[in-house]
Amino acid sequence: MFADKHILVTGATSGIGRAVVVDLLRTEAHLIAVGRNRKHLEDLALLGKDKVTTIEFDLTDFGGYRKLIADMPSLDGLVCSAGIVENNPLRFFSLEKYQRTVDVNQTAPLHLVAELAKANRLRDKASIVLLSSITGTSIGMKGTAAYAATKAAQAAYAKVMALEFAHKGIRVNAIAPGMVQTPLVDGSHQLSAEAIELDKARYPLGKRYAEPEEIASVVRFLLSVDASFMTGQNVVVDGGFTVQ
Ligand SMILES: NC(=O)c1ccc[n+]([C@@H]2O[C@H](COP(=O)([O-])OP(=O)(O)OC[C@H]3O[C@@H](n4cnc5c(N)ncnc54)[C@H](OP(=O)(O)O)[C@@H]3O)[C@@H](O)[C@H]2O)c1
Repeated sequence: MFADKHILVTGATSGIGRAVVVDLLRTEAHLIAVGRNRKHLEDLALLGKDKVTTIEFDLTDFGGYRKLIADMPSLDGLVCSAGIVENNPLRFFSLEKYQRTVDVNQTAPLHLVAELAKANRLRDKASIVLLSSITGTSIGMKGTAAYAATKAAQAAYAKVMALEFAHKGIRVNAIAPGMVQTPLVDGSHQLSAEAIELDKARYPLGKRYAEPEEIASVVRFLLSVDASFMTGQNVVVDGGFTVQ
């Protein structure tokens, strides 16, 4: 299904993005894995052999995007998984944290898609998958005003990009996971260990958070021709959390 397809994944060095790369390695796709952590990129290169090209790049280097994509083949798929979350409650609000979150989560995916479009690097019938969240689109979480807004932005981008690219058959969708067991959750300190156990118990499917592989398989579906008539959607993958 993915023979001769080139798929770029941001956030490929950790969590969901890494799971997407590992999942797609079972297909015939060629992956372009973008991240900052050199060791994790090297691990991916070893794992993927000639099927993975790794690129060390800080997505907040907005001036560097043209160079980043200059030598890149035209893409059949793009997965924007890079993201950060920082506890930033309003009573202690940090504009610096806010701006950092907006830069990585909100500006970077939009700028990347725009630069790829301007450079004509998105092939007809390509599929773009953005990482939204139930936070910001369905629920709120204390201390995450900036994060929530950036995740709601992904759902908005999917709608607008879907319309701007439809004439080329390019589809754009977002995925809104509930909590996923990744370093982002482990390191966010949004919740205490005790609160995390209580929170997990609120997930109807299995009283647990999702594994990154359970998001990666939905990404693979959205990238594939099986989703050929889906565009502009925000697909909730949350074990039933938000239907309660
Ligand atoms: N985990 C969850 O519960 C959850 C729930 C809903 C939505 N999401 C969304 O899913 C996406 C992936 O989350 P995750 O849990 O997989 O997070 P993660 O394990 O912390 O991974 C984050 C990734 O983003 C990359 N990244 C961060 N800042 C970057 C920068 N300035 N330039 C380049 N890359 C950068 C990191 O690369 P380096 O380490 O190489 O810097 C890393 O690969 C995020 O957009 C997140 O908002 C996650």
